[in-house]
Amino acid sequence: MTLLVTTRPLGPTRRVARSRTAGAIPPWTLHYGDALNAYEGWPAPSTIISDGAYGVGGFPGDPRTLGGLVDWYRPHVDAWSKNATPATTLWFWNTEVGWATTHPLLAENGWEYVQTVVWDKGIQHIAGNVNGETIRQFPVVTEICVLYRRRLEFATTTGVMTAKEWLRHEWRRTGLPLYEANKACGVKNAATRKYLTQDWLWYFPPAEMMQLLVAYANKHGDLRGRPYFSLDGKRPVTTTEWAALRHPWAHEHAVTNVWSHPPLNGEERYKGNGHRSAPRVHRPGKNATVHLNQKPLAFMRRILTASTRLSDVVWEPFGGLCSASVAAIELGRRPFAAEKYQVFHEHARQRLEEATRNKETGMADCG
Ligand SMILES: C[S@@+](CC[C@H](N)C(=O)[O-])C[C@H]1O[C@@H](n2cnc3c(N)ncnc32)[C@H](O)[C@@H]1O
Repeated sequence: MTLLVTTRPLGPTRRVARSRTAGAIPPWTLHYGDALNAYEGWPAPSTIISDGAYGVGGFPGDPRTLGGLVDWYRPHVDAWSKNATPATTLWFWNTEVGWATTHPLLAENGWEYVQTVVWDKGIQHIAGNVNGETIRQFPVVTEICVLYRRRLEFATTTGVMTAKEWLRHEWRRTGLPLYEANKACGVKNAATRKYLTQDWLWYFPPAEMMQLLVAYANKHGDLRGRPYFSLDGKRPVTTTEWAALRHPWAHEHAVTNVWSHPPLNGEERYKGNGHRSAPRVHRPGKNATVHLNQKPLAFMRRILTASTRLSDVVWEPFGGLCSASVAAIELGRRPFAAEKYQVFHEHARQRLEEATRNKETGMADCG
């Protein structure tokens, strides 16, 4: 059997601007320039947080219409797909229609849709601003962030299969009855029902259960068909290899896919000379907003806490003020970011340095 999902071993890191932090706090990397020139030097990502073009002319280089969006993303999606591991996730920020326009490109490149998170900005976003007769639609107060994972497929002599199909196929090849999977896992009926079923009640077997299934199949299965549950056709899959096929997920009770947060204001909204650590490079006037697209840190923390582990590599190719990377520093992940425009890059660098100092002095606000 061959695993079809593209993998790439951890590669060397070309550092453009990086923290000087040594020891416990993982360093960060911020590339000044096009992310396309940075990807090859970055290690394989655990997650990619994309907040790029929206097709609304929102930042220099954002196409003014949806028409240019797919071409804009194509080389990036190519690089993400090439560098992803089977367990890499992608969080894709956009408008509803911007995402709908780009989804086919992502799907074609092996990204499997998981869910849509809706950012509800609340009524503050439009208050006093809407002429219903002019817009003739409900006022929009949302943006979305869509979670993808890599599509996991297994090539067999009888065709390409999903994990659900492959598990049953391999067990059937052993010649053992399906119910014997329960004996293999030491359970009454849960293994057959959860891991070998073909309906929506199917579960991806956790590594410790997979280890039991694999050992049993290769010990008791028909000698002629061995190895069973093999990724390379030569030996059975190991526990570590199996675990590496699936991205982490830390469930947070009572958090749904609708996230309410007003548009950014106050201290978190990065200002020109109004902000306590604003660099000299850009002085847009007191209290002027530096970047229109800055995302709430609380969202970036939530994303990273749910889908990554300590020290995991986080890509933020369209940095802006690098909110995802700031959250990554706070949470002990390793961010690799890029920003193409000098002014934004300079602000982002300053922000990342501040986040690192806060982390070092224990001042990071992870609330
Ligand atoms: C929507 S903003 C990101 C805002 C960010 N999420 C934040 O919270 O600050 C997109 C940013 O990506 C930058 N950008 C666009 N194309 C890029 C590219 N090819 N490489 C690097 N940066 C790029 C833009 O200059 C812009 O600042």
